[in-house]
Amino acid sequence: MAPPSVFLDACRRRPTAFTPIWLMRQAGRYMPEYRAMRERHGFLELCKNPQAAAEVTLQPVDRLGVDAAILFADILLVLEPLGVGLEFTKGEGPHIQRPVRGADDVARLGRVDVEASVGFVFETVRLVRKALGDRVPLIGFAGAPFTLASYLIEGGASREFLLTKRFMRAERDAWHAMLERLAGITADYLNGQIAAGAQAVQLFDSWVGALSPADYREFVLPHSRSVIQRLTPGTPVIHFGVGTATLLPSMREAGGDVIGLDWRVELGPTWERLGYDVAVQGNLDPAVLLSSTDEIRRAAKAILDGAARHPGHIFNLGHGVHQETPVENVKALVDIVHELSAR
Ligand code: CP3
Repeated sequence: MAPPSVFLDACRRRPTAFTPIWLMRQAGRYMPEYRAMRERHGFLELCKNPQAAAEVTLQPVDRLGVDAAILFADILLVLEPLGVGLEFTKGEGPHIQRPVRGADDVARLGRVDVEASVGFVFETVRLVRKALGDRVPLIGFAGAPFTLASYLIEGGASREFLLTKRFMRAERDAWHAMLERLAGITADYLNGQIAAGAQAVQLFDSWVGALSPADYREFVLPHSRSVIQRLTPGTPVIHFGVGTATLLPSMREAGGDVIGLDWRVELGPTWERLGYDVAVQGNLDPAVLLSSTDEIRRAAKAILDGAARHPGHIFNLGHGVHQETPVENVKALVDIVHELSAR
């Protein structure tokens, strides 16, 4: 028998004794324990060392009392075996040395055998599951095809995604071929995590909010749907993006048991519009964690009031924890959500 979990129950829209909470980027630079590990290891090196990555995954579970662990890894790890030259530079984030700029580049992308190339992630999953026992479930994750493609094309972070948007229209066939490839890799990667023991998975389409609803439907939806349809049945899927207010109905159509909301939408009316036959996750502005406990309590209460105790709400931030966040405030949020939502 599977151990009871408020988080997994909420993913399945079952009633729970309180609202479960975990936080995107709950393991990261705001934690002194993480910064200490980073003094000894580079970021990619940390991801590729299952023992160390498992330790980082567990840090917030021990320190914060969250209701789920999220695997310590990165959405860009699966791009490295494509042969594009992935690196993480200090202070500037990810960088792709040989970005995709045309149809020829798409044709040149290497094949990816996830077991051979990112098997270290699956090993981390196994180690974390062993260490967690029955405490809380482990969430695996991957980047969605659009967000991965945006890194391949832009070569790094972007504000306007102009190269990506130009590519979509100038190279329609190559675009769809590339996203189909990425969808296959992502499904293999997530199924590998599930086989290794991940009990839920989150698909991060972080930057898809840059698109119009029509472009989402034409250029993205079929590929995100294809990932979700290929996943091992029975494992809850969380589908998340930032700036997605106008895209949420289409994201819902693409799939997912849980739809992730950022802080730009009001949870109550948004959930009502999406329908209570899908679970929702979110959606505190991560910047609220830079304020006082009173402010955190007020903002958390507004979100819980919006959810109105409908089964299927997972509390989270609307995006990841900022580096500047005091750990005490994150811990305070977890306690406040548990206290205010106790039924
Ligand atoms: O949430 C967690 O605690 C799990 C770990 C996790 C990381 N990246 C670790 C990480 C997860 C879920 C991700 C996902 C990820 N990675 C996304 C989607 C989530 C989101 O934020 O929208 C994206 C877009 C990436 C790509 C990426 N990786 C960027 C843009 C950066 C640089 C930004 C930054 O904060 O420096 C990374 C690096 C990264 N991934 C760090 C961590 C803890 C910081 C690395 C460091 O220690 O310097």
